[in-house]
Parts: sequence; C-alpha cells; structure tokens
Amino acid sequence: MKRINLGPVNALYPSLTTIVGTEVDGKPNWITIAHVGILNHASGDIPQYLSIGLHRSHYSNKGIHGHGEFSINIPSQTMRAITDYAGLVSGSKVSKADLFEIERGELQHAPMILHCPLSMELRLKDTVILGHHEIFIGEIVNTYIHDTCLTDNKPDLEKIDPILFDMMKLDYWSLGKRTGKPWRDGQTLKVKT
Ligand SMILES: Cc1cc2nc3c(=O)[nH]c(=O)nc-3n(C[C@H](O)[C@H](O)[C@H](O)COP(=O)(O)O)c2cc1C
Repeated sequence: MKRINLGPVNALYPSLTTIVGTEVDGKPNWITIAHVGILNHASGDIPQYLSIGLHRSHYSNKGIHGHGEFSINIPSQTMRAITDYAGLVSGSKVSKADLFEIERGELQHAPMILHCPLSMELRLKDTVILGHHEIFIGEIVNTYIHDTCLTDNKPDLEKIDPILFDMMKLDYWSLGKRTGKPWRDGQTLKVKT
C-alpha cells in the first residue's frame, strides 16, 4: 500500500445534507446546505452553536443578514429530489417560497419545513467572511422532531434517515448500520491502573 498526496483537497465527507430556511423580501426561501458544522456541544443552559457556510452570491444570505434568524432542517431520503432542487435554483430567479409546508416556532423569520423529520430554529450569533463564503454561526433556540423519529425520547438517526453528501464524487448516500458506542468501544484499550 502506498499513500498518495492529493494536495489540499477537502476530503471531510460525508457531511449532512440540510435545507436552510430564511425569510427574504417577506417570503420564505430554502437553500440546500451540506457544509454545516457543530461548534460546541453543551447541555443545560449553555448555548449551542452550529455553523453553515454559504457562498456570498446566494439569495438566502440576504434573509440572514436582514433578520438575524434562520432554520436548519434535516430532510429524509424520501425528500431527496426536492432537497436537490432547492440547491439547484436560486430564489433570486425562481420563487421557492411554496416548496414546503411551513412550521413557525418561536422566531418570526426562521421558517421551518413541517415535512422534515427534524428542524432547528437559530438566532445569528456571528458571521465570518472567508473568501467568497460567509460562515453564519447560529445559536440553537429550539429543536423540533416528528414523534415517530424518537426512540427513548432521543432523535433516532435510523428513523430520520438523513441524506449524506459527498462533494468528491458528487453522490448522495444513506446511513449504514450502527457499529458501536462512542466513549465505550475504546475502554478495553485503557491501561488498567
Ligand atoms: C447537495 C447540495 C449541497 C449544497 N451545499 C452548499 C453549501 O454548503 N454552501 C453553499 O454555499 N451552497 C451549497 N449548495 C448550493 C446552493 O444550495 C444553491 O446554489 C442554491 O440554489 C442557492 O439558493 P438561493 O440563491 O435561493 O439562496 C448546495 C447544493 C446542493 C445540491
């Protein structure tokens, strides 16, 4: 086996395919976003932040700048075609306002997709400009889930059936089987003291 240097290729895939909801010019707009990040994980009263990376040319950015609010929705595999469509056309040319049935949460300008098994509403915390992209960092205000996607009161990935994204070969993937337990599977390798 020989390791080959591909140069500075971003190989951090698969990532999660999401649909980000915004309100632009008084109407909902939807954009497919796969460059999402978890910035921290905390529990209780400590805020949790997620990031989304949007090219500056997108119509959606206007809504986030204008209202400081957005939603992140996780579509299931059954929504693959419409998810792809939201990433093919721009709201600046074709209205995507009626693409989905809307659910409103606590925030006024962060429309969510009722049909998505899981949706989060976020308040903009910070914006980082990186070349042609704007990285929007949002604080999670509320998370909504279809009750059918819960197991033991926790979101169940198998039931959510998310769409995974591969930018390298341009493919969509689905989850495989659960294989183990984090913070448990390595326990046997700990040196016993
Ligand atoms: C699967 C998929 C993932 C995408 N991920 C991103 C992304 O992470 N960042 C981005 O700027 N554009 C991404 N796009 C492109 C935008 O979704 C697309 O340009 C969209 O039409 C822009 O919509 P808007 O102009 O209405 O905001 C993605 C497209 C697809 C199909």
